[in-house]
Amino acid sequence: MAQYSRVSGTVGLITLQNPPVNALCAAVRQGIVEMLKKALSDSKVKSVVICGQNGIFCGGADIKEFGMNMSGPPLVQVIHAIEDANKPMVAAIEGVALGGGLELALGCHYRIAHSKARLGLPEVILGLLPAAGGTQRLPRLIGVPAALDLITTGRHVIAAEALQLGIVDQVTDHKTVDAAVKLAQSVAGKPLDARRISTYPCARPSDLDALFEGEMQKVRQRARGAIAPVACVQAVQAAATLPYTQGIEREKELMVTLFTSGQARALQYLFFSQRAVSKWSTPSGARWDTSKPGPIHKVAVIGLGTMGRGITVALAQTGLSVVAVETQEKQLMGAKKAVSNMLEQGAKRRGVAPTLDKISYSPNIQAIADADLVIEAVFEDMALKKQVFQQLAAVCKPGTFLCTNTSSLDVDQLASQTRSPELVVGMHFFAPAHVMKLLEVVYGPRTSPQAVATAMELGKKMGKVSVAVGNCQGFVGNRMLKLYLEQAFFLLEEGATPELVDRALEEFGFAMGVFRMSDLSGLDVGWKVRKGLMLGETDVSSGQSARIRQGCRYSPLGDLLCEQGRFGQKTGQGWYQYDKPGGRVASSDPWLHSFLESYRAKHGLVARHIDHQEVLERCLYAMINEGFRILEEGIAAGPEDIDVIYVFGYSWPRHRGGPMFYADMVGLAKVLERLEHYQQAHPDVPYLQPCSLLRRLVASGSPPIQRWREVIKKPHSQL
Ligand code: NAI
Repeated sequence: MAQYSRVSGTVGLITLQNPPVNALCAAVRQGIVEMLKKALSDSKVKSVVICGQNGIFCGGADIKEFGMNMSGPPLVQVIHAIEDANKPMVAAIEGVALGGGLELALGCHYRIAHSKARLGLPEVILGLLPAAGGTQRLPRLIGVPAALDLITTGRHVIAAEALQLGIVDQVTDHKTVDAAVKLAQSVAGKPLDARRISTYPCARPSDLDALFEGEMQKVRQRARGAIAPVACVQAVQAAATLPYTQGIEREKELMVTLFTSGQARALQYLFFSQRAVSKWSTPSGARWDTSKPGPIHKVAVIGLGTMGRGITVALAQTGLSVVAVETQEKQLMGAKKAVSNMLEQGAKRRGVAPTLDKISYSPNIQAIADADLVIEAVFEDMALKKQVFQQLAAVCKPGTFLCTNTSSLDVDQLASQTRSPELVVGMHFFAPAHVMKLLEVVYGPRTSPQAVATAMELGKKMGKVSVAVGNCQGFVGNRMLKLYLEQAFFLLEEGATPELVDRALEEFGFAMGVFRMSDLSGLDVGWKVRKGLMLGETDVSSGQSARIRQGCRYSPLGDLLCEQGRFGQKTGQGWYQYDKPGGRVASSDPWLHSFLESYRAKHGLVARHIDHQEVLERCLYAMINEGFRILEEGIAAGPEDIDVIYVFGYSWPRHRGGPMFYADMVGLAKVLERLEHYQQAHPDVPYLQPCSLLRRLVASGSPPIQRWREVIKKPHSQL
């Protein structure tokens, strides 16, 4: 898996050969060692170039080997052999040098990169650290602050930045291997002592302690409980304070801790899950590999409010033609300005030209007649959306895919407004739509495989992580979220405060607790939805209490706040108070606390002590239980789909893998036992009743998450 040849008479060329990214599996590592021996023993060879086949240097470790018994030479030893070589070693970096790939290049005495190459140490994203000397060599090469930045964030740099930082010696626009061979020839016979990075002293800024203290604080805050970024700082600290041989030992120790942690497992699971969700299937037998997407050149967006604007930006950034329709003249003017600003800012960040000319605007729906696909994003109102779908059916050319961005309405009802329900599919983006990664692609019973494939493909083009899900109230994400929110309300009724609930969830790893998040997105949004479902009003005629709706426990707390005009940040008051409407800094609100007290008194509720564990169990297990129902009903094809939705759309902490992975980590028997406990304590909350799939999984010995599908036994592929 590594090939050796001699070029230009005196240069040995070692080519890594392991498509698609020349990952450093055992055979490749073995191959490098053998080819290196050949090159060093070939007396005609004066210097050596290492490159990768097919224009890619190396994408790093072979992640499929993680968790397996180690075979072949360890990468750290391979790199030492390269660095110790007595002939100049040159890395020819094309495509990518990531993770172990960059560590390999750092073992070489010289590095040359193609201008389009990307370099980085992204191990932290998988819950690990660069453990083949990366944490020890990079700070010695480019200094502690720059190395900390790259290693703790995992960010990639392009060749120009790598040159500026000093990671590479040269950048070329021409054939990289040819340029590397030239460089190798020019350095043949030169002394190598000053080129072995492991022998460099690590430049120590005078305020080293303060620097690491500050970095540790920054990383801890950003990591929200993730341990890998903290270990990365510790490893770089070892590089700055210990001799290389001790530093490398420390790197190894830290890696062992990370490797055996649940967090690395969670992050690696997520890595594979993100790939798995693109291989979608539906209960009717449609599949990613048998469904061909339709050609899309022009897309129409209907309604240019919050969502329509973001969707328009995301579409234009892909280079597609967009026709954007908004009936309110003032909104249309505002949208034009906002969309142009967003496109210009985005283009500036990415160093490209803004694609303003890709968009045409119109107040008239007739303008979309030649669109290949339409995304409707008008108000969340079924009557209005039905009317819009009837118009679309009349205006669009035959074969146009009709998509809705509804967050909870029945996609099938909208499909029934058209002559071609098979072309109707949900494309549920998340706000802000040009930033948020998640897209739920919602198929109804009549949606054609081609419509699903087309929406999935368009999502991919837009840089989204797209997950195909079945049609139901709230789809996957919002359906589960509803119960999470509801439990949080119930906890307030029973004695908790928004501060306590939020602290528990933030310590768990969410960027924001449920109440701070609700203040940010606006309490009125959920209020409108509840009113739409007629949950926001007491059923006076039946004499029911305000705390019972449709026969089940209900908390009107959110509605009561909205009735007071407390919509959250936008009005300066919600579950917290803010210094002004639109203010961002939340502080405790004494009014809210006395409001909760009088609410409890009015309803005869006695406040009790609630701890963090109860907050987590009530909020998260309720949501997880619904996840099992979603799996049982076939709304999501597998637990990976739910977890990807939660991590990319709902800020679930990545190092906890997603709600279903978390259930697996906690232990299904424990989740079941706690749900049974809470269901007995709250018999008026039917959804706390453990789902039968959860019971079946526990009865079959709680298999690991990768084997849940065997128990779900929804034979998607056979239908
Ligand atoms: P919005 O209220 O900001 O914007 C809706 C826009 O549609 C308004 O500009 C309105 O003038 C326009 N409009 C109404 N009728 C129209 C018609 N017949 N033709 C053309 N334009 C028309 O609403 P927002 O928040 O953008 O939501 C739009 C859809 O996206 C809703 O279905 C909502 O549930 C969904 N959604 C919203 C999210 C959010 O966070 N705001 C997240 C995900 C989905």
